[in-house]
Amino acid sequence: MGVIVAVTGASGAVIAMRLLEVLKEKRIETHLIISESGKKVIGYELGNSDEIRSLSTFHYSEDEIDAGIASSSNPVDAMVIAPCSLKTLSAVANGFCDNLITRCAENMLKLNRKLVVMPRDTPLSLAAIENMYNLKLSGAIILPPNMAYYYGPKTVDDVTDFFAGKILDALGIEHSAYRKWVKYDEASPVIRLPGD
Ligand SMILES: Cc1cc2nc3c(=O)[nH]c(=O)nc-3n(C[C@H](O)[C@H](O)[C@H](O)COP(=O)(O)O)c2cc1C
Repeated sequence: MGVIVAVTGASGAVIAMRLLEVLKEKRIETHLIISESGKKVIGYELGNSDEIRSLSTFHYSEDEIDAGIASSSNPVDAMVIAPCSLKTLSAVANGFCDNLITRCAENMLKLNRKLVVMPRDTPLSLAAIENMYNLKLSGAIILPPNMAYYYGPKTVDDVTDFFAGKILDALGIEHSAYRKWVKYDEASPVIRLPGD
């Protein structure tokens, strides 16, 4: 299995980093594309792109439109854009293939392969909501990084693991990144039986 992981200039590249860690542990081939704005935002959030790149099998810049993965004849099974800026969301929703990320996303849609998009921004404009709507109609999985409290996260790492786990769920890859919901789990410090 091969997965393209694209990181754009939205906040939250650490989610892609956690995802890449798990995919590496599972020996799944990964193709990491970081947009130019993505590199800039990673600079603010993680210092530099060295660690995230080291977790991928192959890595590319957004202008490498002649890379093998740019062709729909390549064997990559799925693509994740996480985090996805509203700019890249708009480009993918409208078939505007101006770089390697948007070109690969277009390939996924036209071949009916799995495309998981994690748009991050708040609040949302009508344009962003419409772009998500249209992308959903095109077959993509729209997976915003919306946190949940019910599983008892204590740290930012817990929240990051939850988001990475949700992407792995969408890809159909088994993982233990976060503890799945179990209704009657007496061992849980958070989820109590009725009457407790
Ligand atoms: C520190 C920082 C954080 C940003 N966070 C977001 C964000 O969460 N969501 C978003 O849509 N844009 C965000 N942006 C703006 C994008 O980086 C900008 O729209 C850029 O053009 C996206 O380009 P790309 O999609 O090619 O990576 C951020 C910019 C900076 C400098």
